[in-house]
Amino acid sequence: MSEAPNASEPLHVIVGVSGGIAAYKACHVVRDFKEQGADVRVIPTENALRFVGAATFEALSGNTVETGVFSRVDEVQHVRLGQEADLVVVAPATADFLARVAAGRADDLLTTTILVATCPVVLAPAMHTEMWLNPATQANVETLRNRGITVLEPAHGRLTGKDTGPGRLPESHVIAELARTVQRTAAFSPSLAGKRVLISAGGTQENVDPVRFIGNRSSGRQGYALGDIAAQRGAQVTIVAGATDQLEPPSGAEIVRVRSTRDMRDAMVERAPESDIIIMAAAVADFRPETEADTKLKKGQADEALSVIQLTENPDILKTLVQMRDAGQTRATVIGFAAETDNELDYGREKLRRKGADMLMVNSVAGGGVFGQSRNRGWLLSADGGQEEIPDGTKHEVAVRIWDAVERRLR
Ligand code: CTP
Repeated sequence: MSEAPNASEPLHVIVGVSGGIAAYKACHVVRDFKEQGADVRVIPTENALRFVGAATFEALSGNTVETGVFSRVDEVQHVRLGQEADLVVVAPATADFLARVAAGRADDLLTTTILVATCPVVLAPAMHTEMWLNPATQANVETLRNRGITVLEPAHGRLTGKDTGPGRLPESHVIAELARTVQRTAAFSPSLAGKRVLISAGGTQENVDPVRFIGNRSSGRQGYALGDIAAQRGAQVTIVAGATDQLEPPSGAEIVRVRSTRDMRDAMVERAPESDIIIMAAAVADFRPETEADTKLKKGQADEALSVIQLTENPDILKTLVQMRDAGQTRATVIGFAAETDNELDYGREKLRRKGADMLMVNSVAGGGVFGQSRNRGWLLSADGGQEEIPDGTKHEVAVRIWDAVERRLR
């Protein structure tokens, strides 16, 4: 684990930029780190400067920008920058750039800095799908990962031009968040390769009439963070998402949008048989109005409104999935979440037993924490009596700890 030298010292981040059309997104990565209080130094390649000018990077980072090893030679900056860095993030990393780093080249300031750096290095590739899938690129990625460098999985989606597929640069705040997670925890390795992961996230909503619904304050952040980390560890991820804040879905994950608890149950049950790990991170509405009004309830219709808001119980999705596991309809390890305001461990242990899940992450939500927040903490309980405290951290850091524990269990 690599830490900033001390709490009062800002994190020294090098944002490298190589020459791809997505270079403009590096500006947002720089901004994101600056907003978090980091000292950011941008090192573009010569080709990156054909896409975005040095002045932009200098203004955003507040530091000078150089590309070659022959400027400020007296300061030996090609060695100093790498030595002083706490984190190096390259976004975008082109196919050629990956090849140069994999070969150990040191022909400009950025590659030299990476060779010197002993801190975590995170490369965010962006290129056309064919280039990403080419065996030459894949071999370079494997070489880099074997050396402990984190090569992020590219996002799926629209590329330059009309084509779509894996190769897109993930959104800038996702890159920044994943890079910070790597810096605080450990490099991502493809430890979940070949696994199919099914995650529910966000809150379900139950219609009262065409304009009103019963919902909850779940943001979907923890479920999305679990998806982000699983995808970066090589899993094939599907997220069944109810209402979420305006979050960017994890790069590389398939997203299935649902609204009601029954829709979420159907989507989860349909995909459970081919899943290896199922996580119910969604905040599921336990009740729904018995009937849904066809037209908007008006002020004068108190009687009708009161009868519509008669509640009836929703299915328990987690229990349904556990029943499927017990009936041999899915081989999946089933993991639930619990949000508790008090007596967390006792209630959690009881809930784990009642629901029959293999593991349960108990969140402490006293005082309105967790929902919609970027941090979380709690305990991870397993059916065999295991208990692990998950210390306070960002939802991505918590996701790393949860996956570490799940992977230990799978082994
Ligand atoms: N859950 C579910 N279906 C429901 C309610 C909850 O699948 N109808 C899942 C949640 O996604 C979570 C776990 O069950 O993984 C526990 O959810 P929680 O709301 O804490 O528990 P409840 O069963 O609703 O129990 P209580 O309200 O008594 O705390």
